[in-house]
Amino acid sequence: MRKHIVAGNWKMNNDLVQTQSLITELKKQSQTSDAEVMIAPTFTNLSAAFEALKGLEIEVIAQNMHFAESGAYTGEVSAEMLKSVGVQTVILGHSERRAYFNETDELLAKKVDAALANKMRVIFCFGEELADRKSDKHESIVENQIKKALFHLKASAFEQIVLAYEPVWAIGTGETASPEQAQDMHAFIRETLAKKYGQETANSVSILYGGSVKPGNAKEIFSKPDVDGGLIGGAALKAEDFYAIVNAF
Ligand code: PGA
Repeated sequence: MRKHIVAGNWKMNNDLVQTQSLITELKKQSQTSDAEVMIAPTFTNLSAAFEALKGLEIEVIAQNMHFAESGAYTGEVSAEMLKSVGVQTVILGHSERRAYFNETDELLAKKVDAALANKMRVIFCFGEELADRKSDKHESIVENQIKKALFHLKASAFEQIVLAYEPVWAIGTGETASPEQAQDMHAFIRETLAKKYGQETANSVSILYGGSVKPGNAKEIFSKPDVDGGLIGGAALKAEDFYAIVNAF
């Protein structure tokens, strides 16, 4: 059975003290669902987050990484560096990385390879823009993003891959894909995986939805059969809201 996962992407929010105090608030919440819970603080606070979370089953993950092992890449962070502080999972391909830092599918393929070579798990993000959906190109856009960045992998590599469908028009906008739109796309993604890797592999991959998930809409979105969890931005910055979403399963 594939896992339920709820991951909080903190983006460029929370300094050291705010990271510690949000974790103190997270510790006061109780989990009633079976979801795996993750938080992605900024690089500078990863170690502090591990320290503050001791004893709690929340995985600390990273928001990004470089594909090279080390070298002259000013300002970048490698898989080895992440692993050295305990990080085992990295988010790659977030639409903000694609839009503001020009990350292409080709670059993301290299990052995915580097993460997998380091035995890290990847939460791979992709999704269409509003114009793509309006012109009915959303499925072909998503199919291309997945093919270009992931389809060079062997089926066994998908044990380490989690997919996150995040329609760009729904991220941070308050506008969510309807549960039906999410389900349709997730089913399409699973079908695309099945065509390439077979149904068994396709069924084993967790596909998260991201884009304005809130306590008020999480239950309905998560009730869809191909939605296996969520990548949560804004609502992950409030402990109570985040756990309301975690417990929506
Ligand atoms: P949002 O962000 O929940 O604030 O829309 C989701 C994301 O960017 O992963």
